[in-house]
Parts: sequence; C-alpha cells; structure tokens
Amino acid sequence: MQRLPRSEQEKAWRAQALQVGEEALRAGKVGVILVAGGQSSRLQYEAPKGFFPVGPVTERSLFQYHAEKILAMEKKYGVVLPWYIMTNIYSIEETRRFFEEHGYFGKDPASVHLFAQRMLPAVDDDGKILLETKYAPAMAPDGHGGLLNALKSHNLLRDMRLRGIEYLFYFQVDNPLVKICDPMFIGCHILEMADVSAKTVKKSHPDEKLGNIGVLDGAYTVIEYTELLEEDKRRTDDNGDLLFDQGSIGIHVFNRAFLEAVVSGESRLPFHISHKAVKCVNERGEIAKPSAPNAYKFEQFIFDVFPQTLNICVVEVERWQEFSPIKNKTGPDSPETARRDLRNYFGAMLEGAGYSVPRDDNGNVTWNLEISPLVALGAQDLGERLPADFTPYDGLVLEA
Ligand code: UD1
Repeated sequence: MQRLPRSEQEKAWRAQALQVGEEALRAGKVGVILVAGGQSSRLQYEAPKGFFPVGPVTERSLFQYHAEKILAMEKKYGVVLPWYIMTNIYSIEETRRFFEEHGYFGKDPASVHLFAQRMLPAVDDDGKILLETKYAPAMAPDGHGGLLNALKSHNLLRDMRLRGIEYLFYFQVDNPLVKICDPMFIGCHILEMADVSAKTVKKSHPDEKLGNIGVLDGAYTVIEYTELLEEDKRRTDDNGDLLFDQGSIGIHVFNRAFLEAVVSGESRLPFHISHKAVKCVNERGEIAKPSAPNAYKFEQFIFDVFPQTLNICVVEVERWQEFSPIKNKTGPDSPETARRDLRNYFGAMLEGAGYSVPRDDNGNVTWNLEISPLVALGAQDLGERLPADFTPYDGLVLEA
C-alpha cells in the first residue's frame, strides 16, 4: 500500500511512476472504461447521471467534463484513448443520443463504445419476481461487476487487444474530480507489476459510505461499507488510528490480459443483495413506487475480482484533488459539495499559476469559477496558457 508520499524517496517513486505511465500513454497502451449503468436512486435524478449539470458556472455535464479530460490527454500524449462506456438497457439509447447531439464532445465517435450491462429481475420478500407492468418483470442492472459479463458478451476485450491496449483505466460516472488516465497511477500499476490497482483516500469518519480497503488471506480486498461490521468500522491500531482508514474511490487500473483470463475462467463474481424501493404492480394492479424497500436486487461488484490475484497495487491520493462524488440530492456527496470542491480545485489551479483567489474562513473559494480541461488539466498547463495581462474574477469561465 502506497500511502501519500512524505519522504523524498517516496516522492521520487511517484515521479518515476509518472514517467512510466506517460510512456504507456504515448505508446497507445491505455484504454478507458467508464461505468455509468447505475440508477441514481439516491440522487433522484430522472436522466442518466452522466447528463447531470455539474459545471459550477456553465452547467457542463458530467459526460462533457469527462470527455474533455480524455480529449486533453489524447492531445497531450498524441494518441487515441478508446473509451468504453457501460450503461444499462434503459439508458443506452438516451445516452447515445446525448453524445450525438453534442458531437461526441469533440471525441472521434469511432473511439467511443457504448454498451449495455445485463439486467436481473428484482424479487419480493418471498422470492417472487416483481412486475414492473402487468406483462413485464421489474428488472435492475446487475451491478458494476456486470462489466465482466458485458465485456465478454460484447466481445470488447478482443477490440481492446486488437487496438494494442494493455492497461484499462476504470472510473465511475459520479466523480467530477477524477484524474482520468492519471499517468502516475498507471505507472505505479506497471512498476508494481500489478494485475489490478485501486486508488484510495483517507476516510473522513468511520461511517463514511466508502468501500474499505483491507487485507484478506494475504491480499488486498474491498469490504463494502454496507458489509463491514459496526465494531470493525471503529477498530483502531496501537497508535489509535482507524484500522480501516482507507476508502476505495472506485478508480482502478486493470491489465487487459488479467480481465481476459478472469472472463474465460470458471469462477464467477458473487452476488450482493440490496433491499430497495422498486416501482412495481401492487395487489390492486396499479403501478406504484412504495415509500419503503419492497424488493431485493442482485448486484455484482467489480472489486470482487481482487481475490483472483495477489498482484494488487493500492495508491492513496489527496481527496481534494481527486474525489468529490455526486451521490445524494442534498448534504454530503451532493451537487452542492461537488460544485464547491470543483471551485476549490479551479481556485487552486489559478493560485498554482500565480494568481490570488479569495477564500472564506473554511478555506473554500468564494468565487464561482470553471476551467475546461481543454484549457488546462493542472496549474502548470494553466500558467503556460494564460496571457501576461490576465486577471481572474468571480464568474470566470475558461474555455478552449
Ligand atoms: C461505490 C462503491 C464504493 C466506493 C464508492 C466511491 C459499490 C458497490 N461501492 O459506492 O466501494 O467507495 O462508490 O464513490 O460500487 N454502476 C453501474 N451499474 C450498476 C450499478 C452501478 O455501472 O449496476 C455504476 C454507477 O453508475 C456508478 C458506480 O457504478 O458510476 C458506483 O455505483 P454507486 O451505486 O454510486 O456506488 P456507491 O454505493 O456509491
């Protein structure tokens, strides 16, 4: 496990990893997987989550923001980054239209592959399949672990192999701060000769809803927040620090060859059961969504492939730079906190480029700001792009 680097040696390791990752990117060995098949039930957003208007000033969608980061990396490293986007069956056509209407956000459509994951029926307390209409069962996506089945059934691992892809950068749709194809992370994965890598942040409190990184039978594993025992959440080590202090942020690198071996092998990912409120036909024949959970859904989790290898690399990163997901309508991990964190990120980019930006007593940037990834991905690029007489202001939008 690589904690945040403190010593010069640890910093030098990350600098070396950055170079190794950049070489892999330049050599065209990297592809991108986005899982976007969830149903956004906690956010209560009707459209696919990738449409969510996250930009603090322009309301740029999550999909656009991700696409611009990929385009910026393509430009920086002179390559095409094939982008594989998993949706569910209900959202795939709407998502395709969204990309078409926006000209694939400038990305070559031939390098964007939309594919749908499998759906499974939801059952009631007695194990009976619920009906969504009088003539159709209530179906739910099979979890992001359904990616493996979907890659296999859509023959996408072959597509990746033919394109010379060796490493797959994997991320979740809901995190606008994700550093897509982070060369340092890809380099750590390569230097450690890992099959799978995971990024983590320090948990903000024991009950934070993050998968917990732990070691089981000598190998790293992720224990989902819903499945970690209450006493284990609070367990501390000899220094009084939380034993499970590292949360997975749903960002991975996979070796393509490893995923090929997994999907062609015998073992299957386990199913996890969740109890949710699902719209279905009630005893009176009416279609309604109950206020309390009425259905069991079956989901596979991608991190359950971890036990299939001992070669796992775990890299801790700074939360403010890389993680601020949109999960809930209000409160923590909501659009409000994500936009605040984006403003702070853009503010820090400007500060890093030598400008000053006002902050309140909590350290939050008080100006509304937005910087397209096509202008700059970090402070250094930004400094090089801005004219000498530039002055930032509240409401600033920097577009390419
Ligand atoms: C998830 C992780 C958790 C991690 C956290 C970080 C699980 C079970 N847990 O939690 O370990 O700490 O993110 O933000 O994932 N998705 C699909 N198909 C599905 C279900 C989900 O593609 O059938 C996608 C979603 O669109 C989303 C991602 O998977 O991009 C995560 O799903 P979500 O339900 O938000 O997971 P969390 O419970 O928040």
